[in-house]
Amino acid sequence: MSNSPAAEAARRRTFAIISHPDAGKTTLTENLLLAGGAIRAAGAVRARGENRRTRSDWMKIERERGISVSASVMTFDHEGLMFNLLDTPGHEDFSEDTYRTLTAADAAVMVLDAAKGIEPQTLKLFEVCRLRDIPIVTFINKMDREAQDPFALLDEIASKLALDPAPLFWPAGSGGRFKGMLDLRTQKFLPYAKKGSDQEEGHPDPVAFGGNAVVSYLDPDEQAELEEAAMLVTEAAKPFDPQAFLEGHMTPVFFGSALRHFGVDELLAGLGAYAPPPKAVKATKGGDATHIVPGDNEVTGFVFKVQANMDPNHRDRIAFLRLCSGRFNRGMKLKVQNTGRQLSVNAPIMFFASDRELAEEAFAGDVIGIPNHGVLRVGDSLSETGTLRFAGLPNFAPEILQRVRVKDPLKAKHLKKALEGLAEEGVTQLFRPQIGSDFIVGAVGQLQFEVMADRLANEYQLEVIFETSPYAEARWLTGERAEVEDFGNKHKTAMATDIDDQPVFLAKSSWEIGYVAERYPKVGFERTKERG
Ligand code: G4P
Repeated sequence: MSNSPAAEAARRRTFAIISHPDAGKTTLTENLLLAGGAIRAAGAVRARGENRRTRSDWMKIERERGISVSASVMTFDHEGLMFNLLDTPGHEDFSEDTYRTLTAADAAVMVLDAAKGIEPQTLKLFEVCRLRDIPIVTFINKMDREAQDPFALLDEIASKLALDPAPLFWPAGSGGRFKGMLDLRTQKFLPYAKKGSDQEEGHPDPVAFGGNAVVSYLDPDEQAELEEAAMLVTEAAKPFDPQAFLEGHMTPVFFGSALRHFGVDELLAGLGAYAPPPKAVKATKGGDATHIVPGDNEVTGFVFKVQANMDPNHRDRIAFLRLCSGRFNRGMKLKVQNTGRQLSVNAPIMFFASDRELAEEAFAGDVIGIPNHGVLRVGDSLSETGTLRFAGLPNFAPEILQRVRVKDPLKAKHLKKALEGLAEEGVTQLFRPQIGSDFIVGAVGQLQFEVMADRLANEYQLEVIFETSPYAEARWLTGERAEVEDFGNKHKTAMATDIDDQPVFLAKSSWEIGYVAERYPKVGFERTKERG
């Protein structure tokens, strides 16, 4: 028998990994599952990583879409805690889903390639975390390869992210000279054992840094170097302050090699110790502002992602519900706030690392998959009373904007409806320029256009053509109505409206946005929009 909803929520750690492609997210995921005892041998997730990279081709052949459902959330129980690791699709399937997944996470692990530091996609995902006040744990990966100076990496975190890095460990060398790392809190040295890829992973037990045993792992020069660096970093960096971390001002920094399973156990222990359990979420109940606390009795949650089924002949989808409170039991009836519809959740899916299983019980912080026939949409709030509504999920400024045309001009009206449907679902965004009759479709990843073309063909029998548009960026306009209207009147050819009729500025470059923003200081040019 499980504990109270409050106690169960308190032992949840729901987190996502953010990184630039190839920094090692898949390898780290796998090794975290290994560290958490959820899988027995390395290799299980690897295959998925490879699948994912070839998925575009595979999709063309199979006419399928969406990443494997069972891989979207991975749950494992470790040392009394329940970890929910949310997948943030990268590579070709980078999309708004990647961003939205972060709205369902309570913490994020930022994986950096030690040789490359902060790369563009890391930065974009970091900005979303900051927007949602998600605390970030940093893992500097690939220390078994030639790395940048760790001090330079810390400087980069401080300057590019405006985040105080608080190293908990300090590495001894990198690449061929990587010897291990010092735990700055306990002064224990964790030796790294170089091994062939076909050998079992395993590293010697930690030894006291000041003791005799450390000489087996570090020669006197290496010891002196590590001692000096550790002293310097202890003086230069602010000490780790859990509160500053929770508030998003500070990031604890871990080092390691995901591939060699080094530093991963320490990272998992750090997540257990410092990452927050689910917290109260802002919502409205019957129109009044309130906070939903994880220990509340009513079962509540929101849909952050909808995944089309792998079988193209079925229109059913899996909605991913992030629970925010209560004790969810299988068979429970939940109401959708948007539509007032009631849903019997008889076959919820929970995603254990090894397999899918039916969820009998779930609590705040958990994610359950609900199969449905299109009733549930991204941003929907579900609760027992149906009177509750969480703040909308944000839309993110698209990074690719294309013009869309239907091959058969008689079907233009039909196209409008279909595009609106997909935009409402959150697949892509739709903009209607003030001048002309074009539709401009926006997405954050190229694959979303393929998904869209596929769905328009299959579900709406529409053959469409995407053409390049002159626009590179879109920004939602905010500010006093008169100011926004004045701006709009002076920039008619670049103005559009989104699906909610909100004014949007379509710019040809980011330089142009900077230029107009300077000239119109009273108008806001926003990268995100909270969906109603
Ligand atoms: P991603 O999901 O972030 O895109 O990265 P992924 O884990 O797929 O890793 C990208 C590449 O980096 C892989 O090599 C992986 O083996 C390697 N890698 C990940 N972590 C480490 C590490 O700690 N040390 C070293 N040396 N390499 C690491 P690949 O050659 O692209 O793939 P594969 O042929 O090994 O499968």
